[in-house]
Amino acid sequence: MVSIAVLGYGIVGSGVVEVLNANQASIDKRAGIHIRIKYVLDKRRFPGNPVEDILTDDIETILQDPEVKVIAEVMGGVEPAYSWVKKALLCGKSVVSSNKELVAQHGAELLSIAKQMNTNFLFEASVGGGIPIIRPLNESLTADEIYEITGILNGTTNFILTKMTQEGREFEDVLKEAQALGYAERNPSADVEGHDACRKIAILSSLAFGMQVDYEDIYTEGITAISKLDIAYAKKMSCQIKLLATSQKEDQRIFARVSPTMIGSDHPLSTVQGVFNAVLVKGNMIGDVMFYGRGAGKLPTASAVVADIIDAVRHLNQNKICFWSTEKIQMMDLKDAPTRFFVRVAYEDFEGAIKEVENIFGVLEVVRLEEASKEFAIITELETEGLLQEKIEELQQRNGIKIVNRIRIEK
Ligand code: HSE
Repeated sequence: MVSIAVLGYGIVGSGVVEVLNANQASIDKRAGIHIRIKYVLDKRRFPGNPVEDILTDDIETILQDPEVKVIAEVMGGVEPAYSWVKKALLCGKSVVSSNKELVAQHGAELLSIAKQMNTNFLFEASVGGGIPIIRPLNESLTADEIYEITGILNGTTNFILTKMTQEGREFEDVLKEAQALGYAERNPSADVEGHDACRKIAILSSLAFGMQVDYEDIYTEGITAISKLDIAYAKKMSCQIKLLATSQKEDQRIFARVSPTMIGSDHPLSTVQGVFNAVLVKGNMIGDVMFYGRGAGKLPTASAVVADIIDAVRHLNQNKICFWSTEKIQMMDLKDAPTRFFVRVAYEDFEGAIKEVENIFGVLEVVRLEEASKEFAIITELETEGLLQEKIEELQQRNGIKIVNRIRIEK
């Protein structure tokens, strides 16, 4: 028998207990040994709940107990998670975590401590909920040079954009539903402003490229400025608006960005709907590989945590190599990245506005929408982001013209 502890009895923590209890027999078979939850750490009490008898609020009890070999950290937030995980690793325990803030910020350091202590730090559930993506990057795609990862990495925003598209509903209304379903973060601005997806693409990039990618260096834009009319334009062009997180390697530099993006119906990520996430990985030998599944929610996330617990139990006293150094990778300036924009232009005089557009951009595809009066949209050619932003600003300065919105487009 091997004993484990679960830190945090929130949505994911209670899911971990549920998965371990529901699938106990097959989990024990796969682990090769009986896994017993010896402690659940939480400040709160849960009268009448079966975990009541194993609840503690004292981390030292867990850290000092030599029977506890694996700790599942599912509390979220950087502190006290960081201090406790570090201590646990230094005590020789393996740690599995679903905490993307912790992994994005301290992953490289915690992996190096695990290596030094001959234990493991595993974090499959920190990206993509129940989708296996960390282990494939670390263990399956090792023969390739990965040159691009692009994904829909936030279930809440994908759920919101899908409902806005399918049901013509407003942003705030759908956000409330996502919160009620337990998809959104405690502070939903982490979802809708793109910060959650940003941390996840930072983790995937660091793993894929083997060097530290700081999430603060990633340009991040959320979906709060996306309106019903933007979605109507997208539909007219047979596109979907998705919050895409992308990271691409060119020479020795990478360029990374999180932003709402219009994608055509032939894009592999265009059919990903609702709370589902998907990650498209491009390797120089394997070509394109895609991973798809539930990116948020109690049981899918808990399933990934428990899979890590099983892996940690199978590898007690044996460090699994993970290629993520603390050295920072060189980032490309966003201004130098090639982009196309969909731009909504409000005008006083249509002919005059079209002339101004042609003077600045040349002749472009123009899209008109019946329900959008006194405006049209243009789709730019592929140019560097810096140059395009300058041209859009120039257009904005022209008399009688106002830029209503701009969205990156891949079509
Ligand atoms: N709030 C996150 C999401 C949860 O919506 O994807 C999973 O990380």
